[in-house]
Amino acid sequence: MSEQASSAAREIAERVIRSFDGCPDGRLREIMQILVRHLHAFVAEARLTEAEWMAGIQFLTRVGQTCTDTRQECILLSDALGVSMLVDALNHGRGTGATESTVLGPFYVSGSPWRENGDALTTDAEGEPLLASGRVQSLDGEPVAGAVVDVWQNAANMMYAVQDPSQPEDNLRGRFRTDGEGRFWFRSIRPVDYPIPSDGPVGDMLAATGRHPWRPAHIHLIVSAPGYEPVTTHIFDAASPHLASDAVFAVKDSLVRQFRRHDPRQQEPPPGLRGPWYTVDCAIVLEAKAAEGMA
Ligand code: BEZ
Ligand code: FE
Repeated sequence: MSEQASSAAREIAERVIRSFDGCPDGRLREIMQILVRHLHAFVAEARLTEAEWMAGIQFLTRVGQTCTDTRQECILLSDALGVSMLVDALNHGRGTGATESTVLGPFYVSGSPWRENGDALTTDAEGEPLLASGRVQSLDGEPVAGAVVDVWQNAANMMYAVQDPSQPEDNLRGRFRTDGEGRFWFRSIRPVDYPIPSDGPVGDMLAATGRHPWRPAHIHLIVSAPGYEPVTTHIFDAASPHLASDAVFAVKDSLVRQFRRHDPRQQEPPPGLRGPWYTVDCAIVLEAKAAEGMA
């Protein structure tokens, strides 16, 4: 950049930053001024041409236009650029020993049906039978009875029910309550690796940049209990080939678990499962809420 252009760039950025000096909300002022500083630095460093700027505007316009009640392309863009995981790290990365959090993802539907421990999440005939179980405990190992475990996962066709009109609305999702010993368990099918929605602008961005859209197989959980910080997390299948290249950068080593295969010729299958079947341990550790005013 010429000396003249870089001094013009500095002057424009400064003027825009100063335009927020009078913002009455201190936090909003801080965020806007940091945003403008970094946005201008990005445009200047990349030396954006007018055509590239217009391509960026058109891309963001398409991202907005792709959003519907059931499709959140803005969150998907944040996920694919690692911003969602950065926000997660800033807000939950305290290393306390509690189960680590990861992205919520776009397929969570609140108000899943209540189910009893041992119930099946699905009547799907397709897929490898799975018994998922775990214990919810506190940092000092005490069981957390009555915790709510809200789970959802994809079907053998790689789709979540909310994406796929051919599945019953409540397929492969449900809410469980832990028993007196903090335990929960349910029957399901083994989740499978799947691509994030790639038929929109985020998919075009991945294709144009040579990135794949795949996520490693996982079960989603939101675990909450009175007096404890809730956690939004995944249990990842250790056998997935995409653990090291998750399209949304959401894998944490502590969340990777073995899905163990069992052979009905050597072991009686659990009630309701026909072998061969898999088991996975979804143990969860919750951190107590900080006392009021101590956060
Ligand atoms: C998911 O795990 O469901 C998901 C997360 C981020 C982007 C797309 C899908
Ligand atoms: Fe998912």
